[in-house]
Amino acid sequence: IKKIAVLTSGGDAPGMNSAIRAVVFSAARFGIEVVGIFRGYEGLIDWETIKLEPDDVRNINNRGGTILYTSRSERFLDEKFRKQAADNLRKNNVDAVVAIGGDGTLRGAIDFEKEGINIACIPGTIDRDVSCSEYTLGFDTAANTATEAIDKIRDSSISHGRCSVVEVMGRKRGYIALWAGMATSADAIILPEKWDGNYNNVTDAIKRRHEDGRNSYLVVVAEGVTDANELADLIKKKTGIESRVSVLGYIQRGGQPSAKDRMYGSLMGAYAVEILVNGNKNRIVAIKDDKLIDYSINEALNIQNSQIDSFQYKLSLLLSD
Ligand code: F6P
Repeated sequence: IKKIAVLTSGGDAPGMNSAIRAVVFSAARFGIEVVGIFRGYEGLIDWETIKLEPDDVRNINNRGGTILYTSRSERFLDEKFRKQAADNLRKNNVDAVVAIGGDGTLRGAIDFEKEGINIACIPGTIDRDVSCSEYTLGFDTAANTATEAIDKIRDSSISHGRCSVVEVMGRKRGYIALWAGMATSADAIILPEKWDGNYNNVTDAIKRRHEDGRNSYLVVVAEGVTDANELADLIKKKTGIESRVSVLGYIQRGGQPSAKDRMYGSLMGAYAVEILVNGNKNRIVAIKDDKLIDYSINEALNIQNSQIDSFQYKLSLLLSD
């Protein structure tokens, strides 16, 4: 193996730069050339690239976002463009691709494998929604960012005696909501995995706190579960407590990566290169029992693990403030 390409795809996630850096440094150790692809699968189709050497990736461990930019490529869903991307790789003598991204990236990789391209994936998304891996790059930083933001919102909420409804990201998963909600002792945490549509549980919890003499309240809701504004209106209607909504949005994707995301990004990047050097094809790097492992991409897609840990969830109810 003489030349590899590296790209980031889907939502940017803190730690992606550490993974890119580790791919470049590890490849250099094995005498492998690295080409960086801009804007994920889009850049593969249009062949927008940059040669990457260790000097080009120094001082990026601490940077948020991805130096290679990213996209959610609609065109890559079309076989015609996947063939174009594969031809570009062959024309440029690239032996394998390292793709860093979330669920969509992994699905793209499966289809790409059919074009005869060897692809190694690294799970990178703040949502922690790649089922085969206990960890995805960016989650730790995002959960910390959400926690800090909610702490600040809480200050205002206490000062005014209000209820704050805070919507966090996560796509179809509630990990950011669970972690940030528990860390900020939310009165109610609404997760896609557990939501039964019963608003009374939320309003009753707030009423109970109110009767206990509290003057401020916090509800953390994962995006897409329910409309945060409607929920705030309902809380006001049922409890009489003034309620305000904050949608945290993209701040959760940005910022300096935590030590954990830098560390896991570095480990996963280096591991992906070793997989390729050892002659393996179409693998995904994953974390299991806190150790690095890898699966075939096909096998990885069949691993189901969509449940929030039930002990953690029970605890989140027990420990609500
Ligand atoms: O996958 C990361 C994520 O931030 C999700 O939490 C969110 O649902 C989505 O991306 C937003 O995507 P976009 O950047 O396309 O608006």
